[in-house]
Amino acid sequence: MKFILDEAKSHIERITNELIKNIGSDLSFIREIGEHILLGNGKLLRPLLFVLSCKLLGYEEERIYSLSTVFEYIHVASLLHDDVLDNAEMRRNRPSVNTVWGDHAAILQGDFLYARSLIIALSTKNLRFLEKIADATNRMVEGQIMELICSNNVDLTREQYFSIIEKKTSSLLSAACECAAVLAGTDIEKEIALHNFGHNLGMAFQLIDDMLDYISSEDVFGKPVGKDLREGKVTLPLIYAIQEIGEEDRGRIIKLLKEKGNNKEYEYILKKVTQTKAISRTKYDALNFVNKAKRSLDLFDSSPIKDILIELSNYVVQRER
Ligand code: FPP
Ligand code: MG
Repeated sequence: MKFILDEAKSHIERITNELIKNIGSDLSFIREIGEHILLGNGKLLRPLLFVLSCKLLGYEEERIYSLSTVFEYIHVASLLHDDVLDNAEMRRNRPSVNTVWGDHAAILQGDFLYARSLIIALSTKNLRFLEKIADATNRMVEGQIMELICSNNVDLTREQYFSIIEKKTSSLLSAACECAAVLAGTDIEKEIALHNFGHNLGMAFQLIDDMLDYISSEDVFGKPVGKDLREGKVTLPLIYAIQEIGEEDRGRIIKLLKEKGNNKEYEYILKKVTQTKAISRTKYDALNFVNKAKRSLDLFDSSPIKDILIELSNYVVQRER
């Protein structure tokens, strides 16, 4: 993430300091697990979006760095739970918390970080700020439940898939951007613009995540690839591939999702997906979302911070991890 190193290094450093400081527990167990996951190779996209959105609005108070941890804590809490649900072994280039400390510790650490995020958010004494966070978390859980219900469903539509990722991923990114406007007490047009920015960026982010699951490698991605298919998760690359392949391969996918199969069969389908237009179509959709995100910023005057947000948007579709 070269641009971040160049342009946003100081913000990232300050956010990282607060992430460790704000854990706020004397229990060494909580601190140890917290540092393992919080100091992993995370992108810190959500707290960074909050900080940059505040600055875009001219809200420069020192506490924005501390408040930004709300968005990373909620995100990490959701990842800790998600890794238990997905039986994930790696996260952020490190063994996942459930792998090292077990499922119980991972779930409880997630609960702890979520509770911490609410305590920190409460310090704003701003009910709308809290409302946005509660609503985003609510939607994240709905997204995960929809994903669970739709697993192994070969008939999942593009629209249903978009609805899942809007809830499970975009809701927190849009809240991070929108909460900056709430805190700064800006007018509703700017609040909506920042909401739209975060929403579209979040959609692009998840599309690229699901695309990289088909084409990246574990070393680069920081987590195993080809996992979505193995977990029965039907994502956009698979939806597009199914539209293009013949009856025989479609039958093989249905069988694989229903009965699970051997490694060779998974490898066959994973390769098949990459041989279709599925990957380029997914990337094209992601680019469209990013362009929409960037257009949402038209309302704001040119500034170095706006340039960073635009660069960050470009990074979301160009990223390899
Ligand atoms: C990762 O997606 C997971 C999410 C985007 C959201 C997970 C949300 C929850 C578990 C519910 C909310 C819970 C709390 C405690 C706030 P992915 O599995 O597609 O990505 P991955 O490949 O990185 O695992
Ligand atoms: Mg997962």
